[in-house]
Amino acid sequence: MSDSSQPRSFPARHALKLRGMSPARRMTELYRLDLASPDVYGILNHTPEKLAMAFDAMIENCIGAFPVPLGLATNFVVNGEPRLIAMATEERSVIAAASKAAKLADGGITVTVGKARTRAQILYARLADPPAALAKLRAWRSHIEDLLAAECNPMAKHGGALKVLEPRFVPGDRDTLIIVELEIGTGDAMGANVVTRIAERAADRLLRLFTDARPTAVICCNDDAGFPVVAEATFRAPGAAALPQRVLDLQVWAAHDATRAVTHNKGVMNAVSAIALATGQDTRAIEACVHASAATACGYRPLTAYEAAGEGEVRGRLELRLPIGTVGGATGHPTAAFCRKLMGVKDAADLAGLMAAAGLAQNFAALLALAGEGIPGSHARLARQRHP
Ligand code: MEV
Repeated sequence: MSDSSQPRSFPARHALKLRGMSPARRMTELYRLDLASPDVYGILNHTPEKLAMAFDAMIENCIGAFPVPLGLATNFVVNGEPRLIAMATEERSVIAAASKAAKLADGGITVTVGKARTRAQILYARLADPPAALAKLRAWRSHIEDLLAAECNPMAKHGGALKVLEPRFVPGDRDTLIIVELEIGTGDAMGANVVTRIAERAADRLLRLFTDARPTAVICCNDDAGFPVVAEATFRAPGAAALPQRVLDLQVWAAHDATRAVTHNKGVMNAVSAIALATGQDTRAIEACVHASAATACGYRPLTAYEAAGEGEVRGRLELRLPIGTVGGATGHPTAAFCRKLMGVKDAADLAGLMAAAGLAQNFAALLALAGEGIPGSHARLARQRHP
């Protein structure tokens, strides 16, 4: 179809008219315009019709599905219970590494999951008298809370309380931008959409009562969101006697050098993002939230910490926040529902615990490989094991 010796004159691809077509029709159009090779056309046009239509309803200009390998990590015992972990990832060694580290945690991995936090923020700008408006909002905060709880909180019937946090100026601004934050219990939903909708309703109510101004923006907050989770385990570091100390050296490097901490944390996210994708989470919200919690007032920090344990062992701990859910958003995707079932997920808190357990194992596996045979060496060994 194409002649590679000739410069092509593509139609203005940024202005393609793709609305109102089915995904298959859009692919045919791309093929017709020489924008898709026969190979790619064949692959994308094999997206099952039902899936293509479901995806078409979710996003604009859908042209098919982008499959990612889906696999299962084994050997996990979390809070004494054997668990399978579903991961969607294109990265070669992730599942093998997590399974290996889980096996090295002889006593299993212990997780502690706290209460989830979901909040929305309302920004007011250009009020006539910002200090007076802030003083009024603060003075009336508990009344506002009672009012909004009674009138604007559909989550109340599911036990989700609404709290109004102390209204404040945006830090660093010259006292003109006011933030009103609502914290709302959203149960097993990650809750971004529901809290934003509630906050919009609340902003309307406040407009009539207090601020006499429309908010500039109403949005959920990804910072400090979701479940606070701690995962802990004692891992064997088999092989050279110096290995545990080398793992601890890597930890010291990450703890004192942000350039290393970023990659160290990427190892944690290899598991967290893969489970997030497999179970229908908002991967970007999780990543934004996790990296925000790594960026402390004292600088960017590793999410894990290790210390020497018994002979040939290290004890690891991972602490992070996970804004996740088991209802709402893309969690209803049939594959995501299947993955959660395979994992035996009981509720959102349970899933958060599994994600943290896998994040810790994944990070330990990376440190062990770095301290031992190196990453290329461990990839080569895995490839040999897979294709002897
Ligand atoms: C690669 O995906 C992840 C690692 O770079 C993590 C790390 O360096 O700790 C191996």
